[in-house]
Amino acid sequence: MNMNIATICLLLLLASTANVAQSGVFDVQKYGAKPGQDISQALTKAWKEACAAGGTSKIVIPKTTYNLGSSTSLQGPCKGPMQIQLDGIVRAPANPHQLKTDGWLVIGRVDSFTLSGTGTLDGLGATSWKQNDCGKNSNCKLLATTLRLDFVTNGVIQGITFKDPKSFHINVLGCNKLKIQHVTITAPITSLNTDGIHIGRSNGITISDTTIGTGDDCISLGDGSKDVTIQRVKCGPGHGISIGSLGKYFNEQPVARIKVLDCTFTDTMNGVRIKTWPSSPSAGTADDITFKGLTMNKVGNPVIVDQAYCPYSQCKSQIPSRIKISNLMIDDVQGTSATREALKIICSKDEPCQNVKVSNINLSYLGAEGKAMSVCENVKPAVSGTQNPPICPRH
Ligand SMILES: *[C@@H]1O[C@H](CO)[C@@H](O)[C@H](O)[C@H]1NC(C)=O
Repeated sequence: MNMNIATICLLLLLASTANVAQSGVFDVQKYGAKPGQDISQALTKAWKEACAAGGTSKIVIPKTTYNLGSSTSLQGPCKGPMQIQLDGIVRAPANPHQLKTDGWLVIGRVDSFTLSGTGTLDGLGATSWKQNDCGKNSNCKLLATTLRLDFVTNGVIQGITFKDPKSFHINVLGCNKLKIQHVTITAPITSLNTDGIHIGRSNGITISDTTIGTGDDCISLGDGSKDVTIQRVKCGPGHGISIGSLGKYFNEQPVARIKVLDCTFTDTMNGVRIKTWPSSPSAGTADDITFKGLTMNKVGNPVIVDQAYCPYSQCKSQIPSRIKISNLMIDDVQGTSATREALKIICSKDEPCQNVKVSNINLSYLGAEGKAMSVCENVKPAVSGTQNPPICPRH
């Protein structure tokens, strides 16, 4: 055979483009995923190969319905950035006991991870909400969170819908630099312990342009949450955006530099909240917190700092909290409160809140019992701008 230079070049070019197009894409169908069937094995195999491949690896879950029938843990470190393109609907088993760990889909120890697409993670949680008693029983068995991100750095979660989890929708632990954006989180108001996004011991987290309706906190920030910005989030139904609870356990890490900006709350139990337990076993701090540009639509407690948080009398409520709250700015909060106590700042007797600024509050109560009011303890805020209701009038 007699090939000229041009032909050889063309063949080389074709070979190399074919190579580039193939390398890096790991479609679960190639690993045995079939519509309507369980993809635990296919996804795990695809992840193993993708993780070992080097370069940017993209796992594709195409637009059809699959089951993910067991707790699936996808671990790093990987040789290159990892992406999951989720366009299909992935469903959990209805029976919560088929998931053997506290995570349904777990991503661990990956540097550079993206989960994006138009797909849905459906936790099929209705059965488990009936069995869950974690509100009242602190020794309850933790059911599986839909997505656990454990020690992920440089992560992005984008576009995905999270539906009806068995417990939390998303749990973020030990992560550094994570963006959650344009995500939809949905569960009924009656679902138990279905926090939207829980963050703990993590730095540099941004949650933006996201809609959360659920049966518990829309977003909750546990100890060790630092540099967290929550922006343009629509919350409701749900319990609102909460820092804490803090001060239940020994040696909790500080919470610092938290911003909640330009968010809307509709028919939620709370708007923005800081809650700390009385009789904390060790001292702790929550510092540099900004709540700004918030719209409240019939919210139970639009702004609430509660340092005597003690549900179901699980604590010695007469011993003041040892969590120190400082540098708290509350600015530009408008709308309607579903209770008279539109603004409540109850600080610890032992650790009065320090450097609290409250400005431009315009919250009205539409009920018959009277006008909106504020309730304050152990705090002397600097007040400016609009004051409807009057802020901490006795100070
Ligand atoms: C407070 O809100 C009410 C109702 O939205 C509005 O009519 C009023 O102008 C607002 N006041 C100020 C000072 O912004």
